[in-house]
Amino acid sequence: MADKPREKGFETKAVEPEDIKGPVHALATPIFSNSTYRLESAAHGARLSSRADLEEGDSPWLYSRWGNPTTEIAARVLTKLEGGHESFVMSSGMAAVSTALLSHLQAGDHVIAPNQVYGGTHELFKTTLPSYGVEVSWVDGTQISQYRDAIRDNTRVIYGETPANPTMTICDLDGLGSISAETGITSMVDSTFGSPYNQLPISHGVNVVIHSATKYLGGHSDIIAGSVTVDNESSEKKVFQMLKLLGGVQSPFDAFLLTRGMKSLAVRMRQHNENAQAIAEYLAGHDKIQAVHYPGLENHPQHALATAQMRGYGGMLSFDVKGGVDAGKSVIENLKIINHAVSLGGVESLIVHAPSTTHTMVAREARLQAGITDGLIRFSVGIETLEDLIEDLDQALSGL
Ligand SMILES: Cc1ncc(COP(=O)(O)O)c(C=O)c1O
Repeated sequence: MADKPREKGFETKAVEPEDIKGPVHALATPIFSNSTYRLESAAHGARLSSRADLEEGDSPWLYSRWGNPTTEIAARVLTKLEGGHESFVMSSGMAAVSTALLSHLQAGDHVIAPNQVYGGTHELFKTTLPSYGVEVSWVDGTQISQYRDAIRDNTRVIYGETPANPTMTICDLDGLGSISAETGITSMVDSTFGSPYNQLPISHGVNVVIHSATKYLGGHSDIIAGSVTVDNESSEKKVFQMLKLLGGVQSPFDAFLLTRGMKSLAVRMRQHNENAQAIAEYLAGHDKIQAVHYPGLENHPQHALATAQMRGYGGMLSFDVKGGVDAGKSVIENLKIINHAVSLGGVESLIVHAPSTTHTMVAREARLQAGITDGLIRFSVGIETLEDLIEDLDQALSGL
């Protein structure tokens, strides 16, 4: 009798990979938390490493910094929502901003940036890009003619943020798109405040759309995430290459939460839009309020532009309380339902008094120049019952 073949050892059985059998068709996104994937042959490995065309039956996965099935699902959903060519999901909004910019710029290039831009992005334009030999020109992001006038022979990127953080100014998407169409300069827009439910920059000819997916896309204040969607293959290759090298990829767990969040984006955004419009109107009629900045109000300087390019005006607004810094702090500290916290875009209302939190390190003059007045409060209006939010604001304002 032949000897029975020796069975694999206990340790080997415990660690050897078991493949998923057959199509799964899962409704919820499976979390592939693996860093690496078995290769079928050396030639298969070579095809993947060189990004050559794959052969029939080849697995497309090599290493999760290059791509992962769970993060790819989040990216595919975003591509559909944005109407783009390809998307990449990343470890934060700043990973998305920096990867998008660094992949399209090199030493000797010139980029045009708006004054009205998120603080982290501002710092990147102000210090990091110039330190790598990229020239930066600043323009008023609401004036498309200023972008046109700032173009030089070496301009490679024009950048916009709309609505802008925290002053709620709007930048003209058609305007940026037409500059790209006429000149070939890549246009990029941070569309975080709008979300793809309210605005679709690529449909206006913009080439690259960036999100802090930490905000509305995730929607539940439970991840730090970012995304870049591009409208062409050349930008896809550049972003893929830079993402692979800078390494700011998204974790599969976060991609699972992001994909789940995006499923309810439309219903959440409808409620954010509705609540924010009603609160903006309430605040605009309040005698303790100096000014309300919300694109849905008719007296917003770019109300017509916002109406032309947005489906809804979003859940973000800012308002200036009469009485300056002390009044601003007092309102924030007296709220009971609305949460005193930085960030935005979650289902729960979040509020900050900019001069005493997000902008404490900015000199008063510079802050005022950027439109951040002493009593400026930024409000991310949540999806709570509207009457509860108004009652909460009412009692906090009555204490002034
Ligand atoms: C408009 C905008 N862009 C980018 C970012 C950066 O995103 P993250 O904090 O996810 O890196 C933020 C963060 O607040 C933001 O408001």
